[in-house]
Amino acid sequence: MSSLAPASPGDTPDLTGFLSEVDLTLSGLDAPTVYIWIERDAAGTIVASTGFELSDDRQHALIRSVAVHPLAQRTGEGTRLALFALAKAAESGAQRAWLFSRRSGPFWQKLGFATADRDDLARALASTHQVRLFAESGQLNREIAWSRPLRADLPAPIRDGPIALH
Ligand SMILES: CC(C)(COP(=O)(O)OP(=O)(O)OC[C@H]1O[C@@H](n2cnc3c(N)ncnc32)[C@H](O)[C@@H]1OP(=O)(O)O)[C@@H](O)C(=O)NCCC(=O)NCCS
Repeated sequence: MSSLAPASPGDTPDLTGFLSEVDLTLSGLDAPTVYIWIERDAAGTIVASTGFELSDDRQHALIRSVAVHPLAQRTGEGTRLALFALAKAAESGAQRAWLFSRRSGPFWQKLGFATADRDDLARALASTHQVRLFAESGQLNREIAWSRPLRADLPAPIRDGPIALH
């Protein structure tokens, strides 16, 4: 059973610290259009996050903030988090998932993503916080875009229990 919970505004400071540690985008974390779930360990430390932003027409989802605590990586947790976000995005009616990733391409390829044109991504998701930030900062030109279709019946992942840190 998943212990992921929707992030609330009160989680933003801890979430900012967690995402900084794994070097992910911090823009729009408390915006109502950014959907993020987090998991905390028994001590209250955030050990995982996952989420997405939708395009204005809700047809496209930008998967973002998928992160596993460095001490818990490579145990299948990232896959479960990514599948969770994909299932939630499909549930919300999105037809296609997109994301930016320069470092973890092989991870996303295993989940059915293929490289995509970053300008297509930027057009489809122009109003999202991440695309606006990347366009303004010039980072867009250095990014690698990935995409895959979504099916409404994408199965939600099964979680065996809380994340174990090594
Ligand atoms: C990317 C990330 C979420 C993967 O989480 P994880 O728990 O290590 O992933 P999994 O254990 O589910 O790995 C699934 C497969 O992908 C592979 N994989 C994971 N990360 C990889 C990477 N960076 N490069 C290449 N392969 C990778 C694993 O080896 C595994 O392969 P296998 O099925 O052949 O054994 C995690 O490394 C992370 O939090 N990174 C920092 C944040 C980040 O970059 N997020 C992605 C951008 S949104």
